[in-house]
Amino acid sequence: MSASSVPTRTQIAIVGGGPAGLMLGHLLSQRGIQSVILERRAADHVIERVRAGVLEQGTVDLLASAGVDERLRALGMRHDGIYVAFSSVRHRIDMAALTGGRAITIYGQNEVVRDLIQARQRTAEPLLFEVPDAAIHDLDTGHPRVTFTDDGRARDLSCDFVAGCDGFHGICRASIPADRLRTYERTYPFGWLGILANAAPTSDELVYSLHPQGFALFSMRSASVTRLYLQCAPDEDADTWSDERIWNELDARLTTEDGWHPARGPIVQKGVTGMRSFVAEPMRYGALFLAGDAAHIVPPTGAKGLNLAMADVSRLADAFDDYYRGGQSRSLESYSDRGLRRVWRAQRFSWWMTSMLHRAPEQGEFDYRRQLAELDYLVGSTAAMTSLAENYVGTPIA
Ligand code: FAD
Ligand code: DHB
Repeated sequence: MSASSVPTRTQIAIVGGGPAGLMLGHLLSQRGIQSVILERRAADHVIERVRAGVLEQGTVDLLASAGVDERLRALGMRHDGIYVAFSSVRHRIDMAALTGGRAITIYGQNEVVRDLIQARQRTAEPLLFEVPDAAIHDLDTGHPRVTFTDDGRARDLSCDFVAGCDGFHGICRASIPADRLRTYERTYPFGWLGILANAAPTSDELVYSLHPQGFALFSMRSASVTRLYLQCAPDEDADTWSDERIWNELDARLTTEDGWHPARGPIVQKGVTGMRSFVAEPMRYGALFLAGDAAHIVPPTGAKGLNLAMADVSRLADAFDDYYRGGQSRSLESYSDRGLRRVWRAQRFSWWMTSMLHRAPEQGEFDYRRQLAELDYLVGSTAAMTSLAENYVGTPIA
């Protein structure tokens, strides 16, 4: 967008153009509510960042009702079940059968972001990339403002509300006075080394595996691209992992006694992610509303982060709509409490999946045998599988 068309006033200033900020902007636009989205990085960086891949049924339904599911319907892969592997055996959990037909869809977060950027560009509403220095002011005065530099020019944007969608390391949560926020945090003594490989998936569904050498996950992005993860040290240097070493470790941790294993192919991307559980309460301070990773982080094992971000912005868009249509601030006031219930439920599930499937350095053989017993119980009990399935496919977004 040209520098001169940046407005000086809007209804909602959205800081962060990741999945949360872009989806919020889209939902607001559909409700006739103005917004300006400010993103620190370049568009290509935001689109190419390889992250989540599992969309809950509720997220798919939300994208469909918002009219941004054309490519998702064509390219997304619906999975009715997952495999859990341990002691060299794969066990299938039929999630759809256990949840009345609910399923997950494999569709890369970068594709969701690409679709949302295209939808935004069709509206011609402001979406500014490479904004390095957004700062928020006067959140408790009734006249909030966001200052930033765009195209070398200092800008001052006044607004009714600020949506903090700038992820875990953003400026929005950090702008809240420390005595107005309570945080809960847990870090894990391991991380994930993730790769994308040009190799056809050899399993039709995801495989979560516990092995004496640690966790491994088999996932995919398309009929020709596999996505794989290995438990590693939290500060692992990905460059110390040659392709050969990665494939050998994946083979060791994933191969099952029926001979199943991932197919090898050129590795086109690799990176290490730390694991953290984090919640900030409340998700609001004055005119600022936090959404997505800015407010909470889950370890990736339960595949909940992107889905929680989508649930937040759906609730927030509805609350802004109530406010602008009928002057009702009740929904804005309950935004945080209503969201935190879902957040804590996802925290519990993600912590549980992580603890069951990873080997912590301080744990010994007793803990490993206990994990195997838990997995054995899981795959032998309809009640336990139903509990996993209900949480994994997620509850509908209100
Ligand atoms: P982000 O994606 O972090 O976006 C925030 C945006 O704000 C970024 O674009 C950033 O550049 C921008 N920003 C930051 N600071 C500023 C600033 N000062 N000014 C302007 N802009 C700023 N979730 C799932 O649901 N399913 C999965 O399968 C899954 N797998 C994952 C696998 C991995 C390896 C990882 C790392 C994460 C995974 N997640 C998964 C989590 C998911 O990717 C995140 O929860 C999701 O990206 C959150 O979206 P967000 O928009 O809240 O935050
Ligand atoms: C993927 C990521 C996850 O965190 C997960 O639990 C399952 C799949 C993925 O990137 O495909």
